Amino acid sequence: MNKDSLKRTDPAIEELIVSELKRRATGLELIPSENHTSPAVLEALGSILTDKYSEGYPGKRYYAGNEYIDKVEDLARERAKEAFGVPYANVQPYSGTPANVAVYLATCEPGDVVMGQNLSDGGHLSHGAAATLSARLYESVPYHVDKEGYIDLKEVELLARERRPKLIWCGATAYAREFPFEELGAIADEVGAYLVADIAHVAGLVLAGVHKSPVPFAHIITTTTHKTLRGPRGAMIMVTEKGLQKDPELAKKIDKAVFPGGVQGGPHNHQTAAIAVALKEAMTPEFAEYGRQVVKNAKALAQSLMEQGLTLVSGGTENHLMVMDLTPFGKGTGVFVQDALDAAGITVNKNTIPQDPSSPFYPSGIRLGTPAITTRGMKEGEMEVIGKWIAEIVQEVRAEKLPDSKEERIATLKRFHEEIGENQKIREVKRQVEELCSKFPLPY
Ligand SMILES: Cc1ncc(COP(=O)(O)O)c(C=O)c1O
Repeated sequence: MNKDSLKRTDPAIEELIVSELKRRATGLELIPSENHTSPAVLEALGSILTDKYSEGYPGKRYYAGNEYIDKVEDLARERAKEAFGVPYANVQPYSGTPANVAVYLATCEPGDVVMGQNLSDGGHLSHGAAATLSARLYESVPYHVDKEGYIDLKEVELLARERRPKLIWCGATAYAREFPFEELGAIADEVGAYLVADIAHVAGLVLAGVHKSPVPFAHIITTTTHKTLRGPRGAMIMVTEKGLQKDPELAKKIDKAVFPGGVQGGPHNHQTAAIAVALKEAMTPEFAEYGRQVVKNAKALAQSLMEQGLTLVSGGTENHLMVMDLTPFGKGTGVFVQDALDAAGITVNKNTIPQDPSSPFYPSGIRLGTPAITTRGMKEGEMEVIGKWIAEIVQEVRAEKLPDSKEERIATLKRFHEEIGENQKIREVKRQVEELCSKFPLPY
């Protein structure tokens, strides 16, 4: 395969890829759901395996010519089982959301009650949020976090006893504390529900041994493969021994839901191969060390931010991420802070906070985390400095207020966006960010 073929065939796309690489190399990626994959993962992902159709599962395909693809998928499944210590894994879901849809299909009938962590309390859309298929097909009963920002187990217990859900999700997209798998497992058992642990965010931390494993407590585990696990964009569904005891047919039901159940079509074999590579990498001592450092870095960053007077939901972090509560500066200000940090080469995402006084589109917080910058080799010393830069930028834009009227809001955000890149403080931080980044090259 010719290395320069993209440049010759489609220079426009090639240039955009190079620009994106430069953006990444010169900036700090703090979106906690992102990471930098290894060259080996990328090589598998960009391989010829993308050309092959292989609907079905190893040994049971609808198309011929799958003898090597079967081996790739078997390797990925075996590694997932070995890494997490589970008896069954499906590695075909295209991404986290379709994996979760397959779980509903395998376990619930339309109209069944399902429970998940409320969206603005950190929960994921696919766990029953109003805007999604999961809330249209099932009766979604959200649970919340308490005043301290921890999952309100008393509320979960009361709601579960009253509403008798078929399925309870444990997992979130913006929750900085350890997930209470054991406690939610007991509640699910009491009411006869499936406990599904969606460990998309913490899968790499579970493998590194720095987050409790859901395996003894959950019936089903879903995860994306592209966050702390540091693999390609993709997902997996696993069934535990506990799950098979509850329903010996559960693994077959999951397989059928993924394909041909209607969630998706033929597997993306290049993606499956890259997942297999990522799982191999994730079982090494180096990866365990990486996971430990991710958490140490998150704690150091949280400490630095709080020392500068900033407020974090639940007062800190136990994993790889934190959510900053910006309501002391006004409601809906996450959008200004995200934009200002972006202009300084620090990428975060605006995020709702529990009981957000604003809306998901103009939320009152930002979410940030350490998986990607830890991959680059940064440690606690760098976290302290990054925390100070973030605090300086938050202070710089603290006077910005989000207007109530839609027209004024659009005009204000446009003006802010145009002006922020010229701000002297932002430019100075951007220069320092670039200097720091030059010492920590990307893995590719
Ligand atoms: C907990 C959780 N589950 C599922 C998903 C969905 O993953 P995807 O974006 O790959 O559909 C996410 C993504 O952020 C997530 O945080």
